[in-house]
Amino acid sequence: MTEEIHKGLAGVVADHTAVSKVNPESNSLLYRGYPVQQLAAELAFEEVALLLWNGELPDAAQKEEFRAFERSHRALDPRVKSAIDLLPLDCHPMDVGRTAVSVLGANHPLSEDSSPEAELTKAKELFAAFPAVVAYDQRRRRQLQLVEPREDLDYSQNFLWMTFGEEAPEEVVDAFRVSMVLYAEHSFNASTFTARVVTSTLADLHSAVTAAIGALKGPLHGGANEAVMHTFEEIGINPAETREDAAARAKAWMEQALAEKRKVMGFGHRVYKSGDSRVPTMKQALDAMVDYYGRGELMGLYDGLEAAMGEAKNILPNLDYPAGPTYHLMGFDTEMFTPLFIAARITGWTAHIAEQRANNALIRPLSAYNGPEERHL
Ligand code: CMC
Repeated sequence: MTEEIHKGLAGVVADHTAVSKVNPESNSLLYRGYPVQQLAAELAFEEVALLLWNGELPDAAQKEEFRAFERSHRALDPRVKSAIDLLPLDCHPMDVGRTAVSVLGANHPLSEDSSPEAELTKAKELFAAFPAVVAYDQRRRRQLQLVEPREDLDYSQNFLWMTFGEEAPEEVVDAFRVSMVLYAEHSFNASTFTARVVTSTLADLHSAVTAAIGALKGPLHGGANEAVMHTFEEIGINPAETREDAAARAKAWMEQALAEKRKVMGFGHRVYKSGDSRVPTMKQALDAMVDYYGRGELMGLYDGLEAAMGEAKNILPNLDYPAGPTYHLMGFDTEMFTPLFIAARITGWTAHIAEQRANNALIRPLSAYNGPEERHL
């Protein structure tokens, strides 16, 4: 019997979800029914998180309650700080993020309580606690001291405050907020599916998120935002260059890369074949940062690569493509980009964990054996 193999589970519909709808035909993405572009234009990231968890937008009382909760759960847990301090400065920041979530889970009194109430509490705590992990890790790599969170700032303002130790300008906060909203959720992508697989065994929430972080690290998934910046670095970033010259160099680089059959991260998508629905909104945020920092030449690199990829292969950018240079302009080290994706995707992962738990079936596909026929010693 020959089984039909769906390599990479391509085209396989594994389950229902009410968290988000990715529609490649109309290039749209809905979170709980709302177009992500509208959410990014109008809502705080905290409100989008509540929408993803609860299925509905929060009313004023729910917003206020979560506002107070989130602001009071931001400080870096000393046990997490001690664990981070044991990790080498040259390990990947995704390893730090993965370890931090694991330590939080091991110390959580509700770790083994998977009631919906306990799960939601753990999700909200993780959402509130993770920015301090990224911020502290970024700072320790620069030999800088921890910066304590500030309760008078919102999520995005405080994230940037804890990372850079100064209040970020409104334009930067807004671009950061938009990136968080766009990165929050995307149906059964590899890391979310990983979280659902782990949840399906009835393991705890922190185990599922820790595993999801492992899946997100790879350059075919979240690691692509970091890889995009490495491409820019390989081409060479020169703020004194004109936009046109930068575009010409980037175009030549891409032609060479494609001639060498290289895969260029930040382009292509398993589901979207005619453009990633999130790119126009993220590109607007990048444009705003390029204007704010006066770095037109970066846009030259961006345009040159995009044009050459489009001409040669008709493959379009994905969200990681504009997100990478946006985080670079904000001042994050390149290796910190994917941990920023974790901070955002904690919302989507934990919404899916709850959905999986509420209607669980162990995820356990079959395989078609192609090893040696039965043989004997
Ligand atoms: N650069 C060069 N060629 C590409 C690229 C790319 N980025 N993406 C696809 N192709 C080519 C690929 O080489 C193949 O060509 P051929 O048929 O001649 O062998 C064809 O397009 C189909 O590619 P595939 O990898 O089989 O298609 P897929 O649906 O499995 O790929 C993908 C989806 C995201 C893995 C792939 O496009 C890719 O590797 N992109 C780069 C990594 C990346 O940017 N990932 C981020 C994904 S979106 C956001 C996120 O999750 O973070």
